[in-house]
This record gives sequence, structure tokens and C-alpha cells, in this order.
Amino acid sequence: MAKKMYDTPNLDELEKGEWPSFVTGLKRLAKEKDLMVDLLGQLETSYKTRKGYWKGGTVGVFGYGGGVIPRFTELKDENGQPVYKDAAEFHTLRVMPPPGMHYDTGTLRQFCDIWEKHGSGLIAFHGQSGDIMFQGCSTENVQKAFDEINEMGFDLGGAGPAVRTSMSCVGAARCEQSCYDEAQAHRAVLNTFLDDLHRPSLPYKFKFKFSGCPNDCMNAIQRSDMAVIGTWRDNIRSDEALAKKWFAKHGMDELVNDVVARCPTKTFQVKELKKIKKGEHITSVAVSDTHGVEIDNQDCVRCMHCINVMTGALAPGKDKGASVLVGGKSHLKIGGLMGTVVIPFMKLDTEEQVEKLVDFAQRTIDFFAENALEHERTGEMIERIGLANFLDAMELDVDPAMINSPRMNPYVRTDGWDDEVAKIKAKKQAA
Ligand code: HEM
Ligand code: SF4
Ligand code: SF4
Repeated sequence: MAKKMYDTPNLDELEKGEWPSFVTGLKRLAKEKDLMVDLLGQLETSYKTRKGYWKGGTVGVFGYGGGVIPRFTELKDENGQPVYKDAAEFHTLRVMPPPGMHYDTGTLRQFCDIWEKHGSGLIAFHGQSGDIMFQGCSTENVQKAFDEINEMGFDLGGAGPAVRTSMSCVGAARCEQSCYDEAQAHRAVLNTFLDDLHRPSLPYKFKFKFSGCPNDCMNAIQRSDMAVIGTWRDNIRSDEALAKKWFAKHGMDELVNDVVARCPTKTFQVKELKKIKKGEHITSVAVSDTHGVEIDNQDCVRCMHCINVMTGALAPGKDKGASVLVGGKSHLKIGGLMGTVVIPFMKLDTEEQVEKLVDFAQRTIDFFAENALEHERTGEMIERIGLANFLDAMELDVDPAMINSPRMNPYVRTDGWDDEVAKIKAKKQAA
């Protein structure tokens, strides 16, 4: 049993409504842990004062330069003592997930047991960084918790100016759209950079992400310095039985309005069977006794839309591999950047082929380490020195299939927010 709860009228509001509430979860943990009682106390204070009271610091485990995100309370009384002393330290351990993020129930139970013993009991699967986040630990217990997690075969993730924890989609393990073995590529690449992951010594962070197909469930193009995204070179495959089944259920309106109309290059067409073209680059499949669909694969940009709508009836081709993009990042400094295609296609079927990806990653990181300014991401470095110079250094020949991405990025910065709001209000009033 933990100590008595504080009154938390503001937090209680967050338990109302239809959605699951994190407050309910925290309260459940607070039945057993003084740490969580005090966390709720501090959080309630934050809701009253509208201020956050956490600051960073330095906490780590032996042999590692990163992986623990320290949080110390700044809510002190007049004697400089923490107001909520049991939550004065609330550190997070970042732990790398297995590629594809699968766990067996035994592993999850063991995680829970360890974290109930040494930490708060609160675990997030997974943070935006891709890590399993064991949230809420005292400085004293960080090493103990890590030792037990490490004993299970798990390792800390990245933090600071370092190679960061990677993410790969569920892909080949469970998803029919997968175009390469994401888990294998993820593991081979990451294992090469463990030193750069645990001992931050790069100009800034560097993230890899692996998505099995252009659906890009990992948002690799927006969120990683190097994105490996599955694709194919040959024709989209089709299955007549499933195409007819799809059509019988969904009908012509949906085929036209939801698939034909939405093919970005208008290469997906519906035609009378007798008018369908034949040819090396044509995919065609009957959807009824009178009509069929036709795709000229030379004009298909592999956007996945038709395949997503008509999964099974249509599928990625057989000559599969991946595109490699570099330079994606979110908002800070020069604004969001999406990755730029630098290797339009590479096969990743054999270990030797995966090794080529690892080699390219190694050269990119070496170049980044030598040429980026402090606090500059790969995409920013490329903007500064020019894509042509980067490609030259990577010994990549320029190819028309190397496309820069459309730019649909967050550009709003929230520093200086109050000043900006005041300016807008003044402008409105003047108008
Ligand atoms: C106003 C308050 C806060 C702001 C503005 C803030 C901001 C951020 C931002 C921008 C990130 C990076 C997110 C990402 O890249 O996905 C982050 C991550 C993180 N923050 Fe905060 N934070 C706040 C409060 C807190 C508090 C109260 C804690 C813990 C007590 C905390 C712990 C963390 C941790 C552990 C991460 C890493 C998450 C991950 O690995 O996915 N933050 N925070
Ligand atoms: S990115 Fe593609 S392969 Fe990976 S889970 Fe998503 S749809 Fe499946
Ligand atoms: S995958 Fe190709 S054919 Fe299908 S909608 Fe996208 S561009 Fe069109």
C-alpha cells in the first residue's frame, strides 16, 4: 500500500469522457507506489500553475554515454527541498525494441516484473524514438533496472548526438505488402553502429528507419536521416479470383471513385475487357465478365494506393528490394525535410546485398561525422553543401530516378509564441 493520495481535481477532469485516461492508469499505479502518488501531486500542481517542473541532468549506467533520460523535479519548497520528494527523480530508460517490435508474453511479463521492482511500473511501447520507455526511476535504481533488462538480452537505446534507436515495421513477419526482410536489414545496420549509439560522438543525432513498402508505416521518409523503404521493379501482380470478389462486393462506383480517380499518375484504368492493352509492362485483371483494370507499370510510381484498396487482387511485384533516402528530419532550424532518394533501388535478398546497405550507411555516417556542423542534421548538411557534392562524396551517379520529395512540412515554431500572438492580436485590432 502506498501513502495517501492528494486531491487532484484538475487531473480528475481528464478521466471524464469516452477515452481511456492516462490519469486512471497513473492512479492505479499510485495504489502501490509512493513515487506515483507524488508524481500525481506534482502533475496536479502543474495543471494549477500551468508550469512544468522537470529539468534534465546527467544519469547513466556504466560503460554507456546515453540511453537514460534524466528528469529531476524543480518544484522545491522555501528550504530548497522537493515538495513531492518521492517523485523528485523520475528518469526514463530507453531500451531498444527488437526489429519489427514483436514480443512474447513471457518477455512482457518479465519487463513488468523488473519495472515494478525498480521503477514506477509505467512502460510506454513505444516512444517516438522507437524505444521501449521505462518511465519513472530513481537515480539509485537505474543501474539495477538496466542490469536486469540487459540480462534478458535487451540493450539501451540512443540519446544525444549519436546514432539513435532504429525502427522497422512489422513487415515480412505479418504484412503481405513487405518487399524485403526489414528485420534483417535493421539488425545488420544497427549492430554495425552500436558504438556510435552508446557513446555519443557525432555532430548530432542520426536515425535509421526501415519500412517494408511505400506505405511507410514507420514514417521513415519524414523521420529518419536514412530511410530504407521497400519497393519493386517489375509489374504489379494480380489475382483474378480476388479481383472479381472485390468488385462483386464494392462495385463500379467504388472502383472508379476510389481507385481510378486516385491513382496519382492516372495509369490505373478500368476498361471493357476487349479494349485492355497487352504488353510487357501492362498489368491487367478482369473484375467482371465485361470489365477489367489495366495498369501501365512504366507510369506507376509505386504509391501503393490501388494495392491498399484492393489488397490481394493486386500486390507488389516479385522483383523486390528497397529505395534508400537520406536527410529526413522534423521542424527545428531550417524546417521539416523529407528524405531525398539517393539509391532508387537495391536488392536486399542476400546477406551480401544487405552488406552493401551497411557499407553505404557506414560511408554516410563517416561523411556526416566529418562534415556536419555541430547540431546539424544530415538533411541540413546536404542543403548547405549541396546534394551534388554529397552524391559525389558517396560515389553515387546522378540518376533521374533520384527524386526530391514533395514538401508538406510543419514549419511552425513555438518559441517566441506569446510575442507572435501579441503581434497578431495587435494587427487584428488595427484592422
Ligand atoms: C512542457 C513539457 C515538455 C515538453 C515541451 C517536452 C518536449 C519533448 C520533446 C519535443 C521531445 C521529443 C519527442 C520526439 O522526438 O518524439 C520529448 C521527449 C521526451 N520527453 Fe519530454 N517534454 C516535456 C515534458 C516531459 C516530462 C514531464 C517528462 C518526464 C517526466 C518528459 C520526458 C521525455 C522523454 C523520456 C522523452 C523521450 C521520448 C522518446 O524517446 O520517445 N518530457 N519531450
Ligand atoms: S510499411 Fe508496408 S510492409 Fe511495412 S507494415 Fe506497413 S504496409 Fe506492411
Ligand atoms: S500503385 Fe501505381 S497504379 Fe496503383 S495507384 Fe499508385 S501509381 Fe497508380
